[in-house]
Amino acid sequence: MPLVKTKNQLKSHLAALDPKGRLGLVPTMGALHEGHATLVEKAVTENDSVVVSIFVNPTQFNDKEDLERYPRDLNADMAVLMDISDRIIVFAPSAEEMYQNDITANTYDFDGLDKVMEGAFRKGHFNGVGTVVETLLRLVAPDRAYFGEKDFQQLQIIKKIVADKSLPVEIIGCPIVRESNGLAMSSRNKRLSKTIRQEASFIYKTLIAAREKFGMKSAKQITDWVTNEFKNHADLELEYFVIADADTLSMETKKQRNKKYRAFIAVYADDVRLIDNIALNY
Ligand code: PAJ
Repeated sequence: MPLVKTKNQLKSHLAALDPKGRLGLVPTMGALHEGHATLVEKAVTENDSVVVSIFVNPTQFNDKEDLERYPRDLNADMAVLMDISDRIIVFAPSAEEMYQNDITANTYDFDGLDKVMEGAFRKGHFNGVGTVVETLLRLVAPDRAYFGEKDFQQLQIIKKIVADKSLPVEIIGCPIVRESNGLAMSSRNKRLSKTIRQEASFIYKTLIAAREKFGMKSAKQITDWVTNEFKNHADLELEYFVIADADTLSMETKKQRNKKYRAFIAVYADDVRLIDNIALNY
């Protein structure tokens, strides 16, 4: 399985592919788990060739410690990918290679998509995500690129960049993959103790309960109920719970029948930040 570390090496590998074949891209930050593997499997099924990028992108971390603590294990990642297909092209550049010695993010106008939730709590995060994803899309020029609904706001932001810049790629959103207790899979779960990992299953349970209440209670009543529920869980600190329009991500005070709604949550379990979301009426 080819492992390439420079843009030029990647270009030579891409140039050797059948120009008529379809190409898929799965951008990741490594520490691969079943959530990532599901995206890669889908990409392998739907395309003739697949590039998986593994790059812990410094410009999307607003917290230096979080960046330093982010798990990295290229050998383990290669083993996960090898199990899926030995023909995947793995692109794992250094930060210098990726950013050509200017490790800064572009500034995007996301039309408010970045003003809420992750964008509000992680300043500059989506400019960093946008910069690295746009760079990868231009470099690889895939027919399809795969992203998880686990990071639903990220998925919407990437769709906006692609539409605004008319990039010729189809963005495919993939459902959230969960552990058996319901906790959304995340590279950060590795840092949870066994007890906290079990306790963190409460996050998904709360989302399911919120979905059951939706339609009967107002967004404010549900939000207050969730906030109160978390008070009984000393190890879990609720950062936000938001009910928003799934397309615009704006928080709605008045529900409209023809709109799709989603609930979004961010929780600190000990010092590990976890996010999750759920469709409420679709
Ligand atoms: P990372 O967190 O490694 O995730 C890579 C891709 O896997 C993202 O599209 C993410 O939504 C998806 N993913 C992660 N956990 C998932 C789960 N439990 N179920 C389904 N999909 C899941 O997201 C990033 O990296 C970065 O921001 C990136 C897009 C690579 C840009 O740096």
